[in-house]
Amino acid sequence: MQPTVVLTPEQIEFFHREGYLVLDAITTQEEVERLREIYDQLFEQRVGREIGHQFDLAGPDEDGKEERLPQILGISSYAPELRNSLYHVNARAIACQLLGPGAEFQGEHAIRKPPGGPATPWHQDEAYLDSDKDHPVVSFWMPLQEATLENGCMYFIPGSHRWEVQPHHPINHDPRVHGLEMDEVDDSLAVACPIPAGGATIHTLRTAHYTPPNRSASPRRAYTVNYGFPSKPRAEGDRDFYWNRLKQTAREARARQAHES
Ligand code: NI
Repeated sequence: MQPTVVLTPEQIEFFHREGYLVLDAITTQEEVERLREIYDQLFEQRVGREIGHQFDLAGPDEDGKEERLPQILGISSYAPELRNSLYHVNARAIACQLLGPGAEFQGEHAIRKPPGGPATPWHQDEAYLDSDKDHPVVSFWMPLQEATLENGCMYFIPGSHRWEVQPHHPINHDPRVHGLEMDEVDDSLAVACPIPAGGATIHTLRTAHYTPPNRSASPRRAYTVNYGFPSKPRAEGDRDFYWNRLKQTAREARARQAHES
């Protein structure tokens, strides 16, 4: 499969200046429909829950309780068709344009925000990762239906990719919750990015981002893939992402148990 999207020099310049980019199309409508069917099935079947790959991003994630914001990590390991897609081919090609030749797949996740599902609070993705390493990666966020102000489209703070990683805490200061939230943020300059199904936003792992609650009657499905280069030890600047040590999630307990048994 050959890539079908090539960024213009203006788009590349915009990305490096603002820390994000918006594309109206990164794949075809046919592919969106095909992926959406697979995606919904995987959430319905709750694949990966017993090993900590599927969990509630925004709630305490107790067994038998409804998930407020279900997420699946490594979703294509349950359905390789997701990865053999024009979406992935284009994401890789675009990452090579943004970061240099040789950019490769570095991970993925899917977040399905049900009707009434909560906001995903302001955060920087790097806050979830190893503080001793640099992560030369860009993240693609593709909605599998239109993403609107009403159902939870992406918002970015332009230029926030130049910030250091800011202090974060588990959502609602609840250590049982996986999701992180920045302690403080001035979002007065935030930009909303509504896009069609099969469009995409692209951001760096430092770019502050947020999605509002889903006030529509349908789920808001987003499929995120990361492309770039493997994490490498940081040359300088000791950091401590202490907020990750505060967390004691059911997801981690399930992952640990699956690993031990
Ligand atoms: Ni994020």
